[in-house]
Amino acid sequence: MKSISVPLFLAAAIQDVTSAVPTGQDDSVTKRLENGLGRTPALGYNNWNNGGCTHATADAALKVADLLISLGLKDAGYQYLNIDDCWSSKSRNSTGHLVADPSKWPQGIKPVADKIHGMGLKFGLYGDAGTMTCAGYPGSQGHEAQDAKTLASWGVDYWKHDACYLPCATGGVPQTCWDSRSNTKSYYATMRDALAGAGRPILFSMCQWGRDSVWTWGKDYGNSWRMSGDIANNWNSLATIAANAAGMSQYAAPGGFNDLDMLQVGNGGLTENEERAHVGLWAIAKSPLLIGTDLSKLKQSTLTILKNKALIAINQDSLGKAAGYFRPSGKPAPVGGKLYPYWAGPLKDGVVVGLVASDGAATLSFNFADVPGLGSGTWKWTEVFTGATGSGTSISAQLASHDMRVYKITK
Ligand SMILES: *[C@@H]1O[C@H](CO)[C@@H](O)[C@H](O)[C@H]1NC(C)=O
Repeated sequence: MKSISVPLFLAAAIQDVTSAVPTGQDDSVTKRLENGLGRTPALGYNNWNNGGCTHATADAALKVADLLISLGLKDAGYQYLNIDDCWSSKSRNSTGHLVADPSKWPQGIKPVADKIHGMGLKFGLYGDAGTMTCAGYPGSQGHEAQDAKTLASWGVDYWKHDACYLPCATGGVPQTCWDSRSNTKSYYATMRDALAGAGRPILFSMCQWGRDSVWTWGKDYGNSWRMSGDIANNWNSLATIAANAAGMSQYAAPGGFNDLDMLQVGNGGLTENEERAHVGLWAIAKSPLLIGTDLSKLKQSTLTILKNKALIAINQDSLGKAAGYFRPSGKPAPVGGKLYPYWAGPLKDGVVVGLVASDGAATLSFNFADVPGLGSGTWKWTEVFTGATGSGTSISAQLASHDMRVYKITK
């Protein structure tokens, strides 16, 4: 969703409705997505959170490519360079093809994609399942096969498929239809099959904002699915998204992941502690990590968080299982929609535990015996942000408000 923002409390309410009422949906398409892509969450960049429409140009894309390399982000694993809405002309050409806006892409898309490939990166573009993109550029509805072939011919590696201007069950075609009775499945199936037939592996990133309980069926359709409305540049937004994602951890697996939306670190709305928690939560929830800020102005503290090797390794763990809440004995139970401090999830060679000071400065503690996948006895641990290591039967950490610690725990 773009251009208009739906308050998160509304998005959360809609999710509650959609998860409770999966009525009237077309389940006839059941082909499982097996495109070999997205075995781990996508790592990369998307320009949208840095100024929306303003940087959907060849110049901006190549500048980002240079910075991903010079800042060491490519070496840290960030490989997709994705351009969001506003890259195309406002209309298709006479043969019905999408065309790049010549004022933004003077040589077209392909030479830029080629150059980006030559730098060891991958290239992504954005489109929409409806009649128009959220910013009013041509959508793919009715043109899916043609568009998928065009993308393949340009060398596109990643396609984000938004959901503006889809029909509403209640009639009309508004920019953003939040009607929970509308059915996004069929549109995403059409684009999935179009991409599968395009002759080039293209990662399919579904962006329909968590409608129709997408987390329950997304793995058969795309490599990732947004599970919420758009993230805003503040703590409450990211905390609410993470709280909702905690209950969807079982749906993440190699080939298909919950997408908590593009990162806001670097954009000035978060403290350093909050930036750590943002990337930490996204990483352990196995969300794609797409940087969305002006890389030329990145603070060292933000860069350090983004390049954290141990954290990225947890996000990219081959098991592909997401962390969710666990409740240490004696602690209060989680409250729906509210970020809870205690997270855990399996890794191929251990367990990850996240502690987040969601309610202000706190001492957070737990016994290993209370962590799913661990048990009584002595365990070794490493904390990814401080580098601290230790062993024992429990952990207690003093955290400043909204800060996070992420522990990898092994035998
Ligand atoms: C329309 O655009 C496509 C690709 O963008 C191109 O291959 C095709 O030749 C164009 N058609 C015309 C009539 O210009």
